[in-house]
Amino acid sequence: MEKKTVFSGIQASGSLHLGNYLGAIRNWAAMQYDYNNYFCVVDLHTITVLQDPATLRAKIREVAGLLFAAGIEAENSVVFIQSDVKAHSELAWLLNCITPMGWLHRMTQFKEKSEKQKEEVSVGLFDYPVLQAADILLYDTHMVPVGEDQKQHVELCRDIAQRFNYRYGGVFVLPEPHIPPVGGRVMGLANPEKKMSKSEEKEEDSIYLLDTPDQIRKKVKKATTDSLRDISFDENRPGINNLLTIYQLLTDKNRQKIEEYFSDKTYKILKEEVAEVVIESLRPLQERYHELTGEAGYLDGMLERGAEKAGARAEKKMGQVSESMGLK
Ligand code: AMP
Ligand code: TRP
Repeated sequence: MEKKTVFSGIQASGSLHLGNYLGAIRNWAAMQYDYNNYFCVVDLHTITVLQDPATLRAKIREVAGLLFAAGIEAENSVVFIQSDVKAHSELAWLLNCITPMGWLHRMTQFKEKSEKQKEEVSVGLFDYPVLQAADILLYDTHMVPVGEDQKQHVELCRDIAQRFNYRYGGVFVLPEPHIPPVGGRVMGLANPEKKMSKSEEKEEDSIYLLDTPDQIRKKVKKATTDSLRDISFDENRPGINNLLTIYQLLTDKNRQKIEEYFSDKTYKILKEEVAEVVIESLRPLQERYHELTGEAGYLDGMLERGAEKAGARAEKKMGQVSESMGLK
């Protein structure tokens, strides 16, 4: 049987963190053998908010390097930079012309981001989900593995594809979001009411994948907990619940065993153990990252080959789309 296709994307807007890893990248690496995979550093999405050019250039390569370091293999997955494949922008324009503005006004991520930005909000930020739909639809994607925050965008993509297919015939495959049962929303350490995020102003909230052991110990030590004592999974106690969830995801132990293990231990010990588990889990990833970025030209070569493979597939799809709309 022909393998199904997986596509996912990640922005280069800041440093990758444990939420990106547990909610997305680690799952991409684990599922790659059963699918045809496309993983994309979405630099065109990243510039929907203002970026410093030199920083962006470095971050794009850092993110790509971390994908490989996290176990995504060039033999099994096509890894590439979005702006290297022009069809993404081109298809986004065609989809713009069939997407009602009302659909975009309903996107919660746009509402949140535009509230923060006020008068600086760009047309690109508003249009962000249409470009995301283009990313997904170009590759006849069946499954989109993402964290919880992206569910609405993938559903919108499905709606756009359905509308297109209704007007122009069955051109697009309808994709499904794939969200992990645990880890789809890793919370901040300092503020466990909010998800862990890339924005640099909340550094104490996020464990970055390239943080040193000391940085990790400090951040986990300062993590917000509560004034109770017992250590149990409880959504009403977001701080402890988040630390335990991180521990669960990285040790693969079941919840009951974890609660038993910590039943006679203090918050201080819980934090020390969580920090050590994080440090040990990130160690091999960090080593691989330094290895593969240490070798001049190695990463660039892989990305070039990725862009070639993705480009060939995307061009073919564009031909079909243009023809169905009457452009060819
Ligand atoms: P982004 O950093 O927004 O480009 O997100 C890249 C991927 O990581 C997407 O699939 C997100 O849904 C996922 N992600 C981002 N933040 C978190 C988080 N705090 N917990 C779980 N998944 C996340
Ligand atoms: N919007 C996604 C995020 O911030 C990134 C993204 C862009 C994406 N294109 C995609 C995710 C296509 C999945 C599929 O996380």
